[in-house]
Amino acid sequence: MNRIYLDNAATTPLDPAVLEAMMPYMTNHFGNPSSIYSYGRENRLAIETARKTVARILNAHPGEIFFTSGGTESDNMAISAAINDLGCRHIITSPIEHHAVLHTVEHWDKTDKITSSFVKLLPNGHVDLDDLDAQLASRKERCFVTLMHANNEIGNLLDIYAAGEICKKYNAIFHSDTVQTVGHYKIDLRSKPVHFATGAGHKFHGPKGVGILYVNDNIKVKPVILGGGQERNMRAGTENVYGIVGFAKALELADAMLEKDSAYIQSLKTYMVNALEQHIPAVEFNGDYAGESLYTVLNVSFPKTEKSEMLLFSLDMQGICVSGGSACSSGADVGSHVIRAISTNPNKVPVRFSFSKHNTTAEIDLVVEKLKELI
Ligand SMILES: Cc1ncc(COP(=O)(O)O)c(C=O)c1O
Repeated sequence: MNRIYLDNAATTPLDPAVLEAMMPYMTNHFGNPSSIYSYGRENRLAIETARKTVARILNAHPGEIFFTSGGTESDNMAISAAINDLGCRHIITSPIEHHAVLHTVEHWDKTDKITSSFVKLLPNGHVDLDDLDAQLASRKERCFVTLMHANNEIGNLLDIYAAGEICKKYNAIFHSDTVQTVGHYKIDLRSKPVHFATGAGHKFHGPKGVGILYVNDNIKVKPVILGGGQERNMRAGTENVYGIVGFAKALELADAMLEKDSAYIQSLKTYMVNALEQHIPAVEFNGDYAGESLYTVLNVSFPKTEKSEMLLFSLDMQGICVSGGSACSSGADVGSHVIRAISTNPNKVPVRFSFSKHNTTAEIDLVVEKLKELI
């Protein structure tokens, strides 16, 4: 059976050109980057070249880019650094963040080091920036604000510049989880009032298990993982050389094709909206899907019926890969905390479709055809 993969917000297939760039570092270039002889020096050079590439594309200094194991680690690092090194004592976040942020904030909230609060959401799922301003104005202690650039489930995009300016006004530290936007949008970190940003290679056809944390030059944070002092003392341990090389290559390719790919993927999203409206009665779209929204994500609510309650399972049986929310390690469907936070109607079945350059309108036609049968 030919499968249809529409879960590209969970992960994307590796680009063959990225694999090709990585291969030498899995084979001949096996040296430890910290070794002083040629095998080591070649790999040190590969890492530093990758860092420069990433910094150039994101308009940051190479010294502001740290390689990590992915989005989750980077989010954790930013939050711990804000508390342990930057004196933040109150965290403001939103109820629709990725669990990499939400569960980390919950963890710290249980300690006596910090308190936390949620910013209000507008009915379309956007962050209420007036409420952010009001909350920051009311706090005496130093605050840490962590708000994602794009929501991985409903696609809503935050005005990161406006949020950052509000944080600046109150001398708050600002982290934005940019995992769904790095490699998909032009990101100019130097012009954005953000202290921490994060990325994960597997969201833009790079390898899994490698990511970045951007730490603005103006703040000083201490190492999280202690040992041999790699990553300029911030994250000890022999580097994931082929992952780092793959991350930079994938970002380079994504950046070069950004205009063409984003226009094509946006056209797929629009095509699916029209097809669903035409063929499925009572279909609804979650979040600001036609406004400030990721072109890669479309979150749809279908009417709840006996058949549609099994929708994800039934689609999987037809070889159609989609999700109800973010990918979760247990595989258990516990519903989506994002949909729960924005929805007023529990009698709906939410499904996230997320697209890549590999999808086609023919695939969407097939999926809509199946949905017609299943609902
Ligand atoms: C918005 C967001 N943040 C963080 C993560 C975690 O990234 P990783 O799986 O690379 O740790 C993801 C991936 O699902 C994500 O979509």
